[in-house]
This record gives sequence, C-alpha cells and structure tokens, in this order.
Amino acid sequence: MKDSNFLKEMNARSLWHPMTSPGDSLANPPTIITGGQGVRITDVDGHEVVDGVGGLWNVNLGYSCQPVKDAIAAQLDQLPYYSTFRGTSNDAVIQLAEELRSFFEPDGLSRAFFTSGGSDSVETALRLSRQYHKIRGEAARTKFLSLKKGYHGTHMGGASVNGNANFRTMYEPLLAGCSHLPAPYTYRNPFDESDPAKLAQLCLAALEDEIAFQGAGTIAAFIMEPILGAGGVIPPHESFMPGVREICTRNGILLIADEVITAFGRTGSWTGSRHWGVKPDMSCTAKAITNGFFPFGAVMIADGVAEVFERDETGRAVIGHGYTYSGHPVGAAAALACLTETKRLDVVTNAAARGAQMHRGLLALQGKYPLIGDVRGGHGLMHALELVSDRASKAPVDKRTAAAIQQHTYHAGAMIRISGPNIILSPPLVLTAVDVDSILEALDVGLAAATG
Ligand SMILES: Cc1ncc(COP(=O)(O)O)c(C=O)c1O
Repeated sequence: MKDSNFLKEMNARSLWHPMTSPGDSLANPPTIITGGQGVRITDVDGHEVVDGVGGLWNVNLGYSCQPVKDAIAAQLDQLPYYSTFRGTSNDAVIQLAEELRSFFEPDGLSRAFFTSGGSDSVETALRLSRQYHKIRGEAARTKFLSLKKGYHGTHMGGASVNGNANFRTMYEPLLAGCSHLPAPYTYRNPFDESDPAKLAQLCLAALEDEIAFQGAGTIAAFIMEPILGAGGVIPPHESFMPGVREICTRNGILLIADEVITAFGRTGSWTGSRHWGVKPDMSCTAKAITNGFFPFGAVMIADGVAEVFERDETGRAVIGHGYTYSGHPVGAAAALACLTETKRLDVVTNAAARGAQMHRGLLALQGKYPLIGDVRGGHGLMHALELVSDRASKAPVDKRTAAAIQQHTYHAGAMIRISGPNIILSPPLVLTAVDVDSILEALDVGLAAATG
C-alpha cells in the first residue's frame, strides 16, 4: 500500500467524489479507510473507530461477515458472470429469487427484478409502473407522486421524484409530471403542526387534493420510503403509510415502497412496509441485500402487478428494461449468504433493542446541548439529530460547526455522517450495547469540543 501522505495528496487529483464539489475534495483530504472488522473501521493512520454510519446504511452485518465473503469467492470460482437477458439465467439467481419470494411473502411480494443498486431499483420500479398501466390499457397514467425530503437515488427518474433540491437543481429539467407532497416531518412543515397524528392526516389530505387536481387517471405511482432516510430520518406517524395505501388503492395508483434502506431489518421489522402493516405494489431494495459487499439490488413485485404482466396477450408486457448486471451470479450468491446470516442472527431483534438504547442516549444528549434541535428515530437503528444555531428560530447550524462535530467525534472513537444540518446514524445492526455507548460517548465529546 502507498503511504498515508501519498494517498491523501493524490486522492482528489484524479478522483471525483459523489456528493461534494471537486474543489472541496482538493481542499480537504478525506478520511481514508483501509480496514474493517466487526463494526469497526480503521483509517490509513491506524485510527480505529465504531462505524456509526454502517458503510452507507448497508453493512448491516458488519465488516467481517465471513459467509458472504466465502460465497462471493466460491461463486467467482464457479461462474463469475452470466447474463439474465432473454434466454439465459444462472443457478444462483434462480435460487435467490425463490428465497426472496419467501422472505417478502408477508409483504405480498413474489417476483424479483434484479438491479445493480438502489438508484437502478427505483428507476426499474418507476418504469415498470408506467408499463403496468399501459398493458392494462390506461396509457395516460404516467405521472409520479412522492414526498418532499424523500431520497430516491440519483438517476434521472429517481432525481425527478427526489424531494431535496440538492439533488435536483443542477440537473434540471427533470422528468415532467412529478409532484411532490409535504412530508410528515413534525419539526418543520407548511401546516405548522407538531402533532404526528394530525400532521399525518394533513399530509394525506394534501395527497387527496393533489390527486384530484392532477386527475387520478394520469398518475402511475406514488413512491415513498416507509421511514424517510437520507432526507433526515423522518419516521411518519403509524397512520401515514396505511393512509397512503388506502388512497392509492382507491385511485388505481400503484404504491412503490422505496426500501433501499429499510428492507432487511433496519427499522426493527424485517421491512419498513411490514413495520407499518402495509402491502406495497412494488418494493425497491439494494444496500444490505449483500451487506454492501457487492453492488446489487432487487425490485420486488406484488402478485397483482405480476399477473398483469404474465397474463398479457397484447404484446405490451415485453420488459424493455434491464442491466448487464441484472441477476449477476456473484451478487446473487452474496445475497443468498447474506439472507441466511441476516435471519440466523435475527438482526431485527437487536436493531430494535439497540435502536431504543440509541434513542434514549440521543435524547439525553439533546438535554445537554441546545444545538440539538430535534432527535428523530425510535424505529430500529436509524437516527438523526437536527442541529440548529438557535432552538427558538430553528435556524440551521453553520457548516463549520457541523463539520467540527464530525471531526471531534471521529477522533473520540465514532464515525458519524453529516448531511446538511443533520447528523445521521445508521450503524451495523449487529452492534452491541457497548458499541452504542461508544458512539454516544464519542458524540458527547464531539459536541462538547465543537460547541464549548
Ligand atoms: C431510499 C433510497 N433509495 C435509493 C437510494 C439510491 O441507492 P444507490 O445509492 O445504491 O443508487 C438510496 C441511497 O441511499 C436510498 O436511501
């Protein structure tokens, strides 16, 4: 390995990073991670910390997870690639589709379309939803509805339904026919409503109003995360997603659950939709499906939608969509091993217990530091602290303070992620009570150092 100075100096010379400017990368050398064991990562200078970010919401089983590594190695030896385009398949992906069918059975999802990641999964679901209506003879249903603050990846379709200007403005014009509705975000919303149940009803009323305005017969699908993640961890009231389901069904609109973060246990339930007792028409997955060890994803499809495609006699059900790596055998082998481990370790139980511990700890920190305006979470291991410079006005914290908190927390033993005014926590689901305490203690040190 090249030495630390070489790597820091060369990093941004020839490499552009996602989600920052090249100038920023040139000015600020990144933390260069060179090792990972269990729930801990080590940087190029030998500093080891608990990974409070879990890679990027994906390394749910930690960095060691030998069965997934072994499955990848064995599959590379046996069949490192074959396509699933018309006329060919591979043994690993067939087995995986059957396993996923049983995993998602309680969600009513029985068919899988494979992708290379979350943005691909979102794009696939949006496209298949338009096709579903065309097959059924409702070709005018082309529009999409989504939530402000929602994150659906960065492909052109995903960015179009994305609810955050950072991922949109520089890439406009985006897809026509996408409408964004207020999110059930109690800390800030246009209704000035802080009661979660009342806010859910107001957001549902806004949805009904938008459907009436656009005309139900022009709308293909509503896409939402069961708990909004990258937009700042916004768990809706328990009535919200069931309410969306009912409105969509009544109006012939497909409900796409974007479960790229929430599938496979993060919420303390096996899926986010199941957490709220909702059966979506399609579900987008990726990330933890392979524990982050191989770029892979799957769109899961409900019986009712699948049957429209499978029984078509018009010729309109040819899926003119797919990726070279759809159903990649190495990804499929990784996913098979990962599913087995995910179930064997019963990660939902730990996610729920450790999530509750984390939530209590974060609320205690809020009592200590006025710059923590809002603590969000309470459903498994996904949390955000929204930072403000003044609690009364809720003015967002300045970037320098947020960056300083991140740095000090890192030096004190935990990797955390800053996204806008939010600290986001999404650690591996296998972390222990001691690991949670380590993250909380490091945050305490970081907050004190940056604000004191
Ligand atoms: C809910 C959601 N959808 C889609 C995506 C995009 O996934 P990817 O970055 O793998 O393309 C993400 C990524 O964080 C996500 O959180």
